[in-house]
Amino acid sequence: MEFSLFESTATDEVVELFTRVFSASEGAAEGQSIGFLVSSLITTTPADSLIGCVAKDGTRIVGAIFFSRLKVPSGQRAFLLSPVAVATEVHGTGIGQALITFGLDQLRSQGTDLVFTYGDPAFYSKTGFAQIDESIVAAPYPLSQPIGWLGQSLDGSPIPAMRGVTECVEAFANPDHW
Ligand SMILES: CC(C)(COP(=O)(O)OP(=O)(O)OC[C@H]1O[C@@H](n2cnc3c(N)ncnc32)[C@H](O)[C@@H]1OP(=O)(O)O)[C@@H](O)C(=O)NCCC(=O)NCCS
Repeated sequence: MEFSLFESTATDEVVELFTRVFSASEGAAEGQSIGFLVSSLITTTPADSLIGCVAKDGTRIVGAIFFSRLKVPSGQRAFLLSPVAVATEVHGTGIGQALITFGLDQLRSQGTDLVFTYGDPAFYSKTGFAQIDESIVAAPYPLSQPIGWLGQSLDGSPIPAMRGVTECVEAFANPDHW
């Protein structure tokens, strides 16, 4: 398995991967919706605010993740990890965790301080994420499942409590995603 940064020439393959994986796990409508989200993330996010990573088995992309800029009140460099997909037929073989670890290393080498995500704590805790109370860092929109608001500091220091508004990129600027 080879891990590398996403390049825009792989857009169609990656959108198709997300659509297929989420259609299989959550149904066709959710698959279409995530495919649209990924397409919009790639086309509307400024280059310095989006980092994608892919896992390749030979020439075929079998996993993909995106990190997009999150403006936090402390002014620290922060990104949001979302979404994540691994090809259904290779679930449970360690690709998801390895891809996230690769992505976090990329972000760390670029001087990123904090990474957040919104998802299942049981899965994301395997790559260093822990639940955050919204009194420490608010999410950009009201959360339907506050238990899924997660974060980590890439230098190992605790995430400082910060007051004020957190801002996501345009593709996530929709309360339905939260
Ligand atoms: C979630 C997903 C990315 C995990 O990737 P993966 O390559 O299968 O995961 P890994 O093999 O690296 O890790 C497997 C571990 O995570 C756990 N895990 C996997 N998916 C999980 C989920 N949805 N919830 C909780 N735990 C999960 C497994 O139980 C396993 O635990 P173990 O190591 O203790 O046995 C993949 O299953 C996927 O694409 N799912 C559909 C899309 C999705 O739900 N994406 C995440 C939300 S954006």
